[in-house]
Amino acid sequence: MAELGQIIFDILVFVLPLYFGNAAPTILGGGPPIDGGRYWKDGKRILGDGKTIRGFWLAVLVGIIIGVLLAWIINSFDGVIFGNPPIDIRLEYQEFYESSIIYPLLSFLNLADVLANSLVLGGVTGGISTLGGMTGDMVGSFIKRRSGIPRGKTFIFLDQLGFLVLGMVFIYPIIPCPPLWLAFLVPITFLTHIAANLFGYFTGIQDDPL
Ligand code: CTP
Ligand code: MG
Repeated sequence: MAELGQIIFDILVFVLPLYFGNAAPTILGGGPPIDGGRYWKDGKRILGDGKTIRGFWLAVLVGIIIGVLLAWIINSFDGVIFGNPPIDIRLEYQEFYESSIIYPLLSFLNLADVLANSLVLGGVTGGISTLGGMTGDMVGSFIKRRSGIPRGKTFIFLDQLGFLVLGMVFIYPIIPCPPLWLAFLVPITFLTHIAANLFGYFTGIQDDPL
């Protein structure tokens, strides 16, 4: 069981920037929509007013900031073991980076060491996973509009997991994390997303409870 606590810790450190990035637009988004107010052939909006340029880039920025911040915090605890069963405070994903598909290319370009710096890798990981997450969020809205679901209405599973799946796809070439991580992340993401939405609903931030 010591293993399980460690695995959960490692996964959370990796995915928290994506979670925070994805949540940021709800509070700080708004402004001109990404689709420019345009309509698809079916007479419905391409994406809708819920996907804004500001929200998109703000999410990526928050992903980068949280990624760097977490890497910095964890670095300052480097080598510390706490708890019983023990959990090693570390940046596990740094090891996956070295076995990534882009590592040989980065080595060839003499860039591998730059990314190996934990703060840089933290920021890149947070930024790229959130970039994927926001892309998944847009794909989700596109599918919702084509299915006739209005902006802000829930599409169960797609709303909760679209950002996670594309976030993981985008980051995979850099951090090839084990499939086991997804088996953990899918249910956890689903549940935290629903919990966050319920919180948003009861505090008046959003209209739909799910
Ligand atoms: N948001 C934004 N820009 C984005 C994504 C989200 O400004 N790229 C903001 C919008 O104010 C949006 C809120 O965050 O209403 C919640 O995001 P989300 O639930 O993804 O959008 P919905 O409004 O539910 O729209 P949709 O039905 O298209 O998912
Ligand atoms: Mg929504």
